[in-house]
Amino acid sequence: MGISMTTSQLLVYVAISSLCIFKVSAMDTFIAAVYEHAVILPNTTLKPVSSEEALALMNRNLDVLEGAVTSAAKQGAHIIVTPEDGIYGWGFTREAIYPYLEDIPDSQVNWIPCNDPSRFGHTPVQERLSCMAKNNSIYVVANIGDKKPCDTSDSQCPTDGRYQYNTNVVFDSEGKLVARYHKQNLFMGEDQFNSPKKPEIVTFNTTFGKFGIFTCFDILFEDPAVTLVKDFHVDTILFPTAWMNVLPHLSAVEFHSAWAVGMGVNFLAANLHHPFMHMTGSGIYAPDSPRGFHYDMKTEEGKLLLSQLDSHPYHSAVNWSSYASSIEANSMGNQGFKGTVFFDNFTFVELKGVIGNYTVCHRDLCCHLSYKMSEKRSDEVYALGAFDGIHTVEGTYYLQICTMLKCRTTALETCGDSVEAASTSFEMFSLSGTFGTQYVFPEVLLSDVQLAPGEFQVSSDGRLFSLKPTSGPVLTVTLFGRWYEKDRASDLRAQALVLITIAITTIEYLS
Ligand SMILES: *[C@@H]1O[C@H](CO)[C@@H](O)[C@H](O)[C@H]1NC(C)=O
Ligand SMILES: *[C@@H]1O[C@H](CO)[C@@H](O)[C@H](O)[C@H]1NC(C)=O
Ligand SMILES: *[C@@H]1O[C@H](CO)[C@@H](O)[C@H](O)[C@H]1NC(C)=O
Ligand SMILES: *[C@@H]1O[C@H](CO)[C@@H](O)[C@H](O)[C@H]1NC(C)=O
Ligand SMILES: *[C@@H]1O[C@H](CO)[C@@H](O)[C@H](O)[C@H]1NC(C)=O
Ligand SMILES: *[C@@H]1O[C@H](CO)[C@@H](O)[C@H](O)[C@H]1NC(C)=O
Repeated sequence: MGISMTTSQLLVYVAISSLCIFKVSAMDTFIAAVYEHAVILPNTTLKPVSSEEALALMNRNLDVLEGAVTSAAKQGAHIIVTPEDGIYGWGFTREAIYPYLEDIPDSQVNWIPCNDPSRFGHTPVQERLSCMAKNNSIYVVANIGDKKPCDTSDSQCPTDGRYQYNTNVVFDSEGKLVARYHKQNLFMGEDQFNSPKKPEIVTFNTTFGKFGIFTCFDILFEDPAVTLVKDFHVDTILFPTAWMNVLPHLSAVEFHSAWAVGMGVNFLAANLHHPFMHMTGSGIYAPDSPRGFHYDMKTEEGKLLLSQLDSHPYHSAVNWSSYASSIEANSMGNQGFKGTVFFDNFTFVELKGVIGNYTVCHRDLCCHLSYKMSEKRSDEVYALGAFDGIHTVEGTYYLQICTMLKCRTTALETCGDSVEAASTSFEMFSLSGTFGTQYVFPEVLLSDVQLAPGEFQVSSDGRLFSLKPTSGPVLTVTLFGRWYEKDRASDLRAQALVLITIAITTIEYLS
């Protein structure tokens, strides 16, 4: 009797401890999911609605997201990311967003909303997200709005007596709130929200690696995006976004996959699906190659993507200027022509032959290209371009860019315009530049805004080169460099320009 009791106690002990070991044992790989969501928009974003109406709209979006979460979990996903503004849309005034906001506590409070829904007031959206995560045993990442009252003791308190934040939340597989991140770099027109006073560095650990999180426009700036990788050594970035594609260099799948390569992290990007606003392009990106991506301007449907990733991806260091600095000075000094890429004045040279080596310089940046086309077509022109300077439209940020791109037409003044289709494939390419920054994001984009997984690599001396002939015609091959230290130095001069360009774009928009 005594012995059998001991045995059963032992069995229970073994069962519990093996459960615990199972729980904390590290996984080498995991399955990630992202959901591109065709958000159901409210009828008005200018006038406030009742909180019941606001919740009814959010529940309609949550119904769709719940379908994606359930489906991802059934297919074995450990984590799913949903888009920025995916629960209520965009374009609100400060007052009109208010009924959609909930008080979101710091994740330190150790809260499972699904088990304890009224601990922090009326929080039905957090409760639902938490239950989705818990019921399906999956991490759920979503974007909602936070409200925090303030008063005159805080000199920065807005006149309506509250801060409103664009906020990412993460619930773990037990439904616990494990991360809350307030977006730092608000995009122009996001006047309904405030930026936190200091950039928030939000990370959390799992058995499948360390995670960091930020939102949309944050990706263009140093804090918190680069800091999470450089100083906090996260393995995977979670990235809810509402991204409007801008070719040739800032379409979602192109730029987000390039950031994963340049920074050496996994990157889970969930975009809204709204073709009319040029919003599409989600993906699961590893530092060596995209694992899955979705770009769809044709349908109105959402899309679930799943892929396996390494929990701790490997990344080797690159010196982005090493190769280009070693090129003979006498090969430089081509006479270039000027062209505009998204309001920036590039210097270009035309690629005249089916095969060639070209150099083009702008200020301190010289770009080198070796290439071989599969044919030199008479109806298409490609050019090599360089830009070293401050960008001032829809944000102020210093760029160093080397780009080989297809010009919109055979007229050279169209080099740098948006173009989505091409006919020329490349047998090989190798692009490098004399970068002053170590933050360079390598982009390869094929015709119809398609990525080229497994077709290119970056060498440790900073060359972006093809591993094989491209699988399709090429739109652009680009080294997109960001020089963060130079943003501030250029700020004052730029601010004047921003005001002028905003005025111009507003006039263009209205006309
Ligand atoms: C917008 O208004 C129409 C007509 O009143 C209504 O049928 C629809 O459900 C409303 N949509 C939302 C998202 O509230
Ligand atoms: C979760 O499961 C509970 C009970 O099993 C159910 O009442 C609830 O509606 C479920 N919630 C979600 C979001 O699936
Ligand atoms: C996450 O895990 C790392 C490595 O195991 C550890 O050093 C770090 O303190 C953990 N961080 C948190 C927030 O638990
Ligand atoms: C990169 O390479 C260049 C040229 O070889 C060298 O001058 C520079 O110090 C290197 N940069 C770094 C950060 O190692
Ligand atoms: C870019 O070039 C255009 C046309 O040459 C010129 O009008 C404009 O001022 C230039 N912009 C900057 C920022 O230099
Ligand atoms: C281009 O440069 C490479 C490396 O310097 C050289 O091997 C090749 O022959 C050159 N090609 C042409 C067409 O000049």
